[in-house]
Amino acid sequence: MLVLGIETSCDETGVAIYHTKQGLLSHALYSQTEMHGEYGGVVPELASRDHIRRVLPLVSQTVAATQFDLHNLDAIAYTQGPGLAGALLVGASIAAALGFALQIPVLGVHHLEGHLLSPLLSTPAPAFPFVALLVSGGHTQLMEVTGLGHYRLLGETVDDAAGEAFDKTAKLLGLGYPGGPALSRLADEFSRTGQPRRFELPRPMLHSGDLNFSFSGLKTAVLTLIKKQEITQQAQGAIAFAFQEAVVDVLTEKSLAALAETGLTQLVVAGGVGANRQLRSTLRRKTEEAGATVFYPELEFCTDNGAMIAFAGAMRLQARKSETDRLDYQFTIKPRWDMEVQETRPEEQDGLNVI
Ligand code: KG4
Ligand code: ZN
Repeated sequence: MLVLGIETSCDETGVAIYHTKQGLLSHALYSQTEMHGEYGGVVPELASRDHIRRVLPLVSQTVAATQFDLHNLDAIAYTQGPGLAGALLVGASIAAALGFALQIPVLGVHHLEGHLLSPLLSTPAPAFPFVALLVSGGHTQLMEVTGLGHYRLLGETVDDAAGEAFDKTAKLLGLGYPGGPALSRLADEFSRTGQPRRFELPRPMLHSGDLNFSFSGLKTAVLTLIKKQEITQQAQGAIAFAFQEAVVDVLTEKSLAALAETGLTQLVVAGGVGANRQLRSTLRRKTEEAGATVFYPELEFCTDNGAMIAFAGAMRLQARKSETDRLDYQFTIKPRWDMEVQETRPEEQDGLNVI
């Protein structure tokens, strides 16, 4: 089965082609970060307009990079939500129009399910069941994943998402937008210089006894530090390091607690913050010590991309027994969409029950 995936939920236009036997055949991404950087954050209207400009050329480019053409496609998967309404509408309407023209099924995919399944694109891939740590700009969740569509929420952030905390703290440090990767680079540079740590930041909810997170207090703690002293380049690095260390500590401890609570031995990390080097190396070390294994998507598939949508769509389509009802080409978007309560169709009931 040959599936085209289209991702337009926020500020990245991602397109990919996944073959269920041959794997990922091609993928392309256009990131709008430079455009939004001027405004210090994503401007939804500009994001939608830019997706319109990019998506069809990216589809042509992605198809041209394979030995197939559009008429060989068996299905199209697009991000149906959650995300920015206008941006989602671009991907949804393009997918429906292309599907109608080609008379093939069109399938809406949950953006977080795309992230969650993205480590399965790598080798070695984890097998179900596993614990997933989803850490993106909009979400921080621990989930127990027992099969495709079987997702149980174990814990989540009660305020800011981890990526959001990285971005807001980076802004406080004057690192521009999007600040997460910049803050992380600064923290890594500081640690390479071997200077002693100067600041200790709190580990919010580390001992809360549950698997929830809270990150907004950390940002406030950074603000207090900044107000107290002159922010030299060295202090900036030391604060970035302390912040990253606190976030990584909490994410690591809670992930280990989730493994202990579920009795599972595989941890999958997905979402933009999963690209963080410090988080990756700490989790690798700590899970190994605990007798567990951690799996990551390739770095380029941690942040938003079309490959994870093509892949999740292909998995959903393969698990489905009948596809005929998908040829109506009506589409909806779900800017807010809880992954635990995905709708299932009657024919999906045995294979895709959501618990
Ligand atoms: O998954 P993603 O691309 O988009 C959402 O679905 O939200 O995640 C983007 C988030 C941003 O907050 C960004 O700052 C953060 O991931 N991020 C990082 C790193 N790379 C991206 N945070 C920390 N360290 C990184 N290396
Ligand atoms: Zn995402």
